[in-house]
Amino acid sequence: MTQSKDEMVTIYILGKRHNVPKTLTIQKAMEYVGYRFVRNCGCRGGVYGACLTYYRIRGEYKLRNALACQASVEEGMEVSQIPFIPAKRSLYDLEEVSDIEETVKKYFLEVFRCLACNTCTKACPQDIEVMDYIQAIIRGDYQEASELSFPCIMCGGCVARCPAEISQPNVSVLVRRVFVRNNLPALENISRLVEEVKEGKFNQIIDELVEMEIEKLKEIYSQREQEPLEKKDWKPQHPDFPANLL
Ligand code: SF4
Ligand code: SF4
Ligand code: FES
Repeated sequence: MTQSKDEMVTIYILGKRHNVPKTLTIQKAMEYVGYRFVRNCGCRGGVYGACLTYYRIRGEYKLRNALACQASVEEGMEVSQIPFIPAKRSLYDLEEVSDIEETVKKYFLEVFRCLACNTCTKACPQDIEVMDYIQAIIRGDYQEASELSFPCIMCGGCVARCPAEISQPNVSVLVRRVFVRNNLPALENISRLVEEVKEGKFNQIIDELVEMEIEKLKEIYSQREQEPLEKKDWKPQHPDFPANLL
């Protein structure tokens, strides 16, 4: 079906002009004009942060960023995607780490250079109070830092804009890992599952799934039970999924 003129907007992808339906997200608009994603696209649901995109509306001074799978196109949008933000990562052995302050200082000392400029918070497409969690880490309030940073999807938007060159998502992952391990009891069902994985309980099922026709795989996936967000005592009707469907 042909779209009428007032249902379209003009955008510029990597400098090239395109007319696209105004109801599309940036990601779908790029596919609409012929791009095929082999990177910068994963979940399509704003969950994994693969699609960080910079844009400027023609005539405006402000350079903005967004998730391409979530933000809609706008008239005059000039768009460029960032393939990868090389945020600083540190290798540490979680089994040997217990003191969070010491570990942050050892692996992410630059955190203490934070200028409290709030640029990271403004750059975050998840509306996370990024500066506040960095400041909480500096104060040693790791519970606050863990709670504030929990919704982070690792898109790297804050990293790219930080004048102190801090890798906020990676330092917050370190803090959450160590804080949770030091302070919260292991979940019984997770511990049991880990043991079952080690014992090889799922090896045969995984082998069968790997060999399975894609249509059958889709059918099984669509029949799975999903844990509701807010029900603590929920248990699956078929704890052996997907074995019960094979
Ligand atoms: S952008 Fe960097 S320097 Fe500015 S508040 Fe955020 S972490 Fe601190
Ligand atoms: S905190 Fe940084 S890496 Fe995490 S979602 Fe926000 S901008 Fe992306
Ligand atoms: S494709 Fe996963 S966050 Fe956009």
